[in-house]
Amino acid sequence: MPTIVFISPKGGAGKTTSALVLATQLAKKTDVTVIDADPNHPIASWASGGNKPERMTIVSDADENTIADRIEDAASTAPIVIVDLEGTASKIVVMAVAMADFVIIPTQGSELDATEAGKALNVIKQHEKAMRRVNADYKLPFKVLLTRTNAAIRARTLTHIQNSLTSAGIPLFAAEMNEREAFKAIFSFRKPLELLDRSSVSNVDKAIANAEAFALEVINEIKKI
Ligand SMILES: Nc1ncnc2c1ncn2[C@@H]1O[C@H](COP(=O)(O)OP(=O)(O)OP(=O)(O)O)[C@@H](O)[C@H]1O
Ligand SMILES: [Mg+2]
Repeated sequence: MPTIVFISPKGGAGKTTSALVLATQLAKKTDVTVIDADPNHPIASWASGGNKPERMTIVSDADENTIADRIEDAASTAPIVIVDLEGTASKIVVMAVAMADFVIIPTQGSELDATEAGKALNVIKQHEKAMRRVNADYKLPFKVLLTRTNAAIRARTLTHIQNSLTSAGIPLFAAEMNEREAFKAIFSFRKPLELLDRSSVSNVDKAIANAEAFALEVINEIKKI
């Protein structure tokens, strides 16, 4: 079943946050296995808070030697597999991309981040090139996800990045992960967005709306596969 892999060589681009938000949204309706392949295991430690949705399973023993096996095992039973990786470009990233059905590249809206996203795109392109030796039409679907964007103000750099990605033919999610306290609070309180205390965390509903829009677009992408 489809495997969604989050990559971006730049640390702090929002991979873990976006992967967890997506997993908790999807787990409302289906079984989801998250492979927490970051050696710091941020998603497993989030789950140790005891608020993990019932339909979410976390695998946290994957490393560069086992990632392909872990993904294959998970994908043989779970309707959706989500893989979160550590920030650095490494063998595990290449292996996970090779096992992916859809890749999400989170990036913050600055020129530097966009350059880093370009490196992630290169991993996809290299993988496609290798696969085309056996299947000339092979394509690995992917989309760039803008993260930590300001919900109120459209910064010029961001508009510029959006335009250059679009004109380079790089697909971009319409949904964005706005900069919101709630997306940090899920880790502080080790809860899904829906269980956050609205009296102590601001704009929880707006964060849920961002998360739902993102999840819906991912579901539509997966349906195309
Ligand atoms: N949409 C958001 N709103 C507010 N804060 C965010 C958002 N996305 C990420 N952050 C914060 O930015 C920091 C980095 O996010 P995150 O850990 O998700 O990135 P990452 O790409 O997984 O990083 P790493 O490469 O280190 O694994 C964290 O402190 C997180 O709380
Ligand atoms: Mg991370």
